[in-house]
Amino acid sequence: MTPTVPRSTYETPLKLAYWVPNVSGGLVVSTIEQRTDWEFDYNRRLARIAEDSGFEYALTQARYAASYGADRQHEATAFSLGLLGATERLKIISAVHPGMWHPGVLAKWLITADHISGGRAAVNIVSGWLKDEFVNFGLPWLEHDQRYVRTEEFIRVLRGLLTEEDFSLDGTYYQVSGIDLSPKPLEIPGRAHPEIFFGGNSTAAQATAGRVADWYFSNGRDLEGYAGNVAGVQASAAEAGRDPRFGLNGFVIARETRKEAEETLREIIAKAHRPAVEGFAQSVKEAGQSTMDGKGMWADSSFEDLVQYNDGFKTQLIGTPEEIADRILEYKKIGVNLLLTGYLHFAEEVAAFGRDVLPIVREKEAELARAHGTELNTDLLPVAPGVSAEEAAA
Ligand SMILES: Cc1cc2nc3c(=O)[nH]c(=O)nc-3n(C[C@H](O)[C@H](O)[C@H](O)COP(=O)(O)O)c2cc1C
Repeated sequence: MTPTVPRSTYETPLKLAYWVPNVSGGLVVSTIEQRTDWEFDYNRRLARIAEDSGFEYALTQARYAASYGADRQHEATAFSLGLLGATERLKIISAVHPGMWHPGVLAKWLITADHISGGRAAVNIVSGWLKDEFVNFGLPWLEHDQRYVRTEEFIRVLRGLLTEEDFSLDGTYYQVSGIDLSPKPLEIPGRAHPEIFFGGNSTAAQATAGRVADWYFSNGRDLEGYAGNVAGVQASAAEAGRDPRFGLNGFVIARETRKEAEETLREIIAKAHRPAVEGFAQSVKEAGQSTMDGKGMWADSSFEDLVQYNDGFKTQLIGTPEEIADRILEYKKIGVNLLLTGYLHFAEEVAAFGRDVLPIVREKEAELARAHGTELNTDLLPVAPGVSAEEAAA
């Protein structure tokens, strides 16, 4: 299937996000040296660097138990609130599992976070794959496609409560009646309510995202794989009369030469924490590969791919700044609106991305827009004063 790329994609600058390292061990399951810390002080500094480097969003992970070596974790929504308080422009997206939260409680949290942060709080609704987290909490663990049925209802209730004055829904998993949450979210031009992201790759995930998500997030994918995901979500969205936007994950290794970047990748993989990667490979069998069509996140991932636990190597953002910018543009041409990035040494590399890669991306985006008979709307670019290498390393 081929995705449809609307004109607005060419006119709108690509948005940038980074994964908040709120779990220990960084973004790779490897014993390679990583100058990334998972504690709040580091993350506060990182968030400020990111918003000064052209990043518009950060995504906080939801993890309650060790997996992929992340044996210490900070809770996503609390951590996000802290980061919102420490920044001025960055939007922070908190991952949230239906099944762990009631959508009404989340709606209330989100409205309060929206008011506190001046409209910068968002959520990423994730259906989950780590069975032990649910089972050990004594919560029901639903079969794969049922998790998406619950997620769809969860988002319908969440959106209803954010926007309606007398909301009721009598569903399989949630029954709410006559609720009017007050206050409502802030009224901000360009959005109907705080943004609702959705993460997943399987067929059920794509269909659900098309029906209810504002933003569809995919794990790392090659061009062909990602085009298939976008087309799958678009088919479902078209039936529902909706128009979601598209995010993609990728792990960035930008170095002066391609050789250096590839050597870093080789070292990450050579130093993989083998038992942790193998344990993770077992746990992810609960994801899309457990379904009839066997498609979904990690279904076709090798040991090497799983060393970056969001399949970020598959996106191949590895090389010189120019090569990475070219690759990013290839994804823009098949519909990416937002790039979610991970790094080995977050603080330094987020700053370096903003300094070395982003200006090239912007130039190429302007060329691409002109080639499609339009202009890149630079008024939509986030304010980014820039961060020097010395400041980032300090
Ligand atoms: C960008 C993104 C972020 C995600 N964040 C989390 C998370 O924080 N916690 C979690 O348990 N799962 C997370 N997931 C995983 C999804 O919830 C889901 O379990 C996964 O996509 C596997 O299911 P699938 O094969 O149906 O896609 C994330 C997925 C994506 C694409």
